[in-house]
Amino acid sequence: MNKSVTFICCFIFYTSAYSQQMGSGNTNISVADSNAVLTNRPPEFAIIPEPVSLLRTSGHFTLPDNVIILASPEMKQVIDYLKEKLSVPTGKFVSEYTNTSAAATIRLMLNPKANQTLGNEGYQISVTPTLIVIKANKIAGLFYGVQSLLQLLPKEIESKELIKDVDWRIPCVEVTDYPRLPWRGLMFDVARHFFTKQEVKQYIDAMVRYKYNLLHLHLTDDEGWRIEIKGLPKLTEVGAWNVKKMGDFGTFSTPGPDEPRSYGGFYTQDDLRELIQYAKDRFVDIMPEIDVPGHSLAAVASYPELSCTPAAVNYRVRSGEKIMDWSHGAPPIALLDNTLCPANEKVYSFLDTVITQVAALFPFEYIHMGGDEAPENFWQKSDAVKALMQREGLKDMRQVQGYFEKRVQKIVESKGKKFMGWDEIMNSDIPASAGIMSWRSSQFGVEASHFKHEVIMTPQANVYLDLMQGDVITEPKVYNTVRLNKTYEFDPVPAGADPKYIRGGQGNLWSEQIYNIRQAEYMTWPRGFAIAESVWSPKEKKNWTNFIAKTEEHFKRMDIAETKYAPSIYDPVFKASRSADRQVMVELTTDIDGLDIYYSFDNSFPDRFYPKYTEKLAVPKDASLMRVITYRGKQPTGRMITMPVDELNKRAGKR
Ligand code: ACM
Repeated sequence: MNKSVTFICCFIFYTSAYSQQMGSGNTNISVADSNAVLTNRPPEFAIIPEPVSLLRTSGHFTLPDNVIILASPEMKQVIDYLKEKLSVPTGKFVSEYTNTSAAATIRLMLNPKANQTLGNEGYQISVTPTLIVIKANKIAGLFYGVQSLLQLLPKEIESKELIKDVDWRIPCVEVTDYPRLPWRGLMFDVARHFFTKQEVKQYIDAMVRYKYNLLHLHLTDDEGWRIEIKGLPKLTEVGAWNVKKMGDFGTFSTPGPDEPRSYGGFYTQDDLRELIQYAKDRFVDIMPEIDVPGHSLAAVASYPELSCTPAAVNYRVRSGEKIMDWSHGAPPIALLDNTLCPANEKVYSFLDTVITQVAALFPFEYIHMGGDEAPENFWQKSDAVKALMQREGLKDMRQVQGYFEKRVQKIVESKGKKFMGWDEIMNSDIPASAGIMSWRSSQFGVEASHFKHEVIMTPQANVYLDLMQGDVITEPKVYNTVRLNKTYEFDPVPAGADPKYIRGGQGNLWSEQIYNIRQAEYMTWPRGFAIAESVWSPKEKKNWTNFIAKTEEHFKRMDIAETKYAPSIYDPVFKASRSADRQVMVELTTDIDGLDIYYSFDNSFPDRFYPKYTEKLAVPKDASLMRVITYRGKQPTGRMITMPVDELNKRAGKR
C-alpha cells in the first residue's frame, strides 16, 4: 500500500432508477422493493450481489420439518454445505437423496442445455409453495444458487446454533442470475500481520456468501515471509518473526537486539494444501503472491546475500518501524535495503526454488510476483547493478526493474504458470502474457487492456479495504479514507478499457494496521458487499439506495453470523470552513438518507432530545468539543463521535 495516496472522497447519490410493476400477479423487481426503501421497511428481497433478474411469484414456501435435498453424488460439496447451513439454525432434519422418485423439498439440477447464458457460474432458482429447484450448468452455479437461496431465507439462517420460533418462510420467486465478470476477488495480506489457518478459513466463509471466487494471499512482505519453502529454512525460521508492537504502524521504535522476535508465523506446505482444498470446496481459487523485488525485507533478513547491500547482514524483519521515506513520492527512498538485487544470479536461483514449490502447491493458473513500490536508491549505489546496466544496455532503474521482471516472468512461465504483477511491471516492455493488477488507478488497467494484458482492476481509490471507512477521528488511523459510496462507484470495466481483457476486479485488504481477524472483517464489510455487486451484478442493476437498504439487512445477518462489519455509514461526514468573519463553521452530512443528527458543544453526550442539526453551524467561541450522534427516528444508529474543536479549526484552514 502506497503511503502517498491523495484523493478526495466525493459523495454519490444514485437516483432511484428501478421500476416495479404494481398490481396483482407476478412482480418483476429489478432491484429491491422500492416502497421499502422509502419507508425504511425492510425490503422483501435483499440479495447481495443483486441478481440479474428476480421475479416475485405468488405464495410462499415454508421449510418442512423433514427437508429432502434431491441431488446427484457429484454435487457433494454443495449438498454438504447446504445440509449444514439448513440444519444447524433450523433444527430440521435434512437428508439427501439421489433417487428421483423421492419427494423432494429442494432439488439441485445440473442441466447444461437449460440456459446457455448462465455460463459456468450462473444459476436459476424457482421457489414455488411446495418445491425449490436450483438449476445450473456447472456445480459452481448450484453453489451460488444456494447462496442466493440462503439470502432469501430469514436472517436467522446465518446462526451457528439452533434458533427457535422462526417462521422459515420464503416468498415464491423465479431468479435467473450469472456474474458480470469471472474474477471476483479479495486480497488478504497475511504478511504484515499473520492470520492463522483457521482465520483464513473464516475469511473464506464470509466471502463465499457474496459469490467471491478468488482469494489472493499476499504471502511475503517486509514484515514477514509466510510460506514454508523446502531447502530455504531461514525464510520461516527468521523471516516469519518480528517483535510485537501495537499502536500506529509505521511509527514504532526500532526494536532492540534483546526484544523477543516471537510475533508472526507461517503456513507449512501442508497447511496451504488444506487451505487450498477448503477454498476449492467453496469454489474459491487461491492465488499466491510472492512480492519481489521490493517489499522483500523478510527475505533479505533471512538471506542477506540476496540484496545488493553488504550492510544487510545486520537487517531484521520489520516490526512496524519506519523504513521508507515517501516524502518525494514514488518510488520511495528506502532507509534500509528491502530489495532483492536484480544483478545477482543467486536471486534468480532463489526465485526458481521458491516458484517451483509455489507452482507445485497452488493449482491456480497465476502466480503473482508483486513488483510494486521497489525503491531504487540502493540499486543506484551498487557496482553490480551498474555492470548489469552496461552489459544489458539498461538506461535507468525502471529498465533495471524491467529486466528483473522479465527474468522472473520466464521462471514463472517455465513452471507452467502465468505471471502476474502490480501495475508497476508495465514500466518496461513486459510481454503481454503478464497479467496486470491495476492498483494505482484504473487508468493503468485501461492502458494494459489495450496492450492485450489480462487485467484485474483494484484501484486504490475505490477498493483498498485497508483505508478508513469514515473520519480519522473515529476510525483506526490509516493513510486515507475510502467511504462505502466511493467503493460502490467501482466499475471494473471503466470507459476506455478494452473489455475483452478485463478479467475482473477485487478488493485489497492490506494489514499494516490490522492486528486481528475481527478488524480484518470490520475493514472488509460492508465494502466487500459493494465490490461483490460491482463484479457480479449487471452495471445497470446497481442502485445506491437499494444497495444501502440491502446492506442494512445484511448487517443483521452478519450480527447473527457473528461476523464483524463497520457501521461507519451511520456516522456523519464533517466539513469545516470559515465564515467571512473567520469563525469556524461546521457542516454535517450523511452518506445515507433518513438519519437525523443531534449534537452538543457542552461536552455532554447528545441524544435525540438535544439540538437536531439542520444547517451549517458556527462553532461557539469557547467550545472545545463537538459531539454528534445519528438517529433513525427514536433509534440511535451512529456512534457517539467526539470531534475536537481544535481539529475543526485545523481543517477550516487559515484564520
Ligand atoms: C500496493 O498497494 N502497493 C500494491
